[in-house]
Amino acid sequence: MHPIVKTFTTPDGLKNLIFHFPVHWRALKVRLFADKDFYKPLGKEKNDYDRYFQEIRGDELNIYLEKELEIFSKIKGKTVRGCEYSSGAISRQHGHCIYVLVRMLKPEKAVETGTANGYSTSFILKAMERNKKGMLYSIDFPEIEGKEYSPDDFYREKGGAVVPKNKTSGWLVPDELRARLKLFTGRSQDVLPGLLSELGEIDLFFHDSEHTYMAMMEEFNIAWRHLKDRGILLAHDVNWNKAFTDFGKKIKTQPFFIDGSLGFLIK
Ligand SMILES: C[S@@+](CC[C@H](N)C(=O)[O-])C[C@H]1O[C@@H](n2cnc3c(N)ncnc32)[C@H](O)[C@@H]1O
Repeated sequence: MHPIVKTFTTPDGLKNLIFHFPVHWRALKVRLFADKDFYKPLGKEKNDYDRYFQEIRGDELNIYLEKELEIFSKIKGKTVRGCEYSSGAISRQHGHCIYVLVRMLKPEKAVETGTANGYSTSFILKAMERNKKGMLYSIDFPEIEGKEYSPDDFYREKGGAVVPKNKTSGWLVPDELRARLKLFTGRSQDVLPGLLSELGEIDLFFHDSEHTYMAMMEEFNIAWRHLKDRGILLAHDVNWNKAFTDFGKKIKTQPFFIDGSLGFLIK
């Protein structure tokens, strides 16, 4: 069933719509005013932008990742918070946008929080491989399928993103893309400060870990201090709360929205 039909016709869908109304409302608002041609604020060429999209749309990485993710059709169960297990991966369209952004930006050092199974990680690394440049430092505090947790091991609003038992964060990343990846396990609150002070300046920061107002603000504050001039702070699920827009106001920088849930700030 299409997700929109499901929203209006099933009790869980309706419950979700009512309880998460502010989240859906924020997504709709930014969707209506999205900066779809995001090469413009980045000051890049439309030709390159179109070429990079074409490059990734036709890449076999898409089929590889989706085939590997089929494992989730056999993974049944719920987290201790009552969410159905899922891969938690960003959409293919978001993967392509992030790929294009990395192709245009050509970062030397990029940091990601929220590796999970490694879907977004794979697109960043694919772009770095084509750029022949860049290292990605990715942090994850994974929830493992079938492992027993107490309700406050993870934040209350966390969805069902899990890493299958017998796998580790980032397992989806194809072997040939791993040379540019360094993985860190732990809460970003604990790992990010030390990692950033070791790295000094970074070119790109991508948030997709704990989507609480406090954790997002904490990540944005520290990442911003380490971003180079013209560096990019990219965030997923920016509609979950007001952290991303509030942070933009705080640093007096205009946020750009690729769509309702993916936004970025340019330093
Ligand atoms: C939505 S998933 C990320 C999906 C991933 N970007 C992809 O496209 O495949 C979020 C991940 O962040 C992890 N996480 C939750 N809280 C965290 C925290 N405080 N620090 C680091 N990772 C966290 C979750 O367990 C999960 O693995």
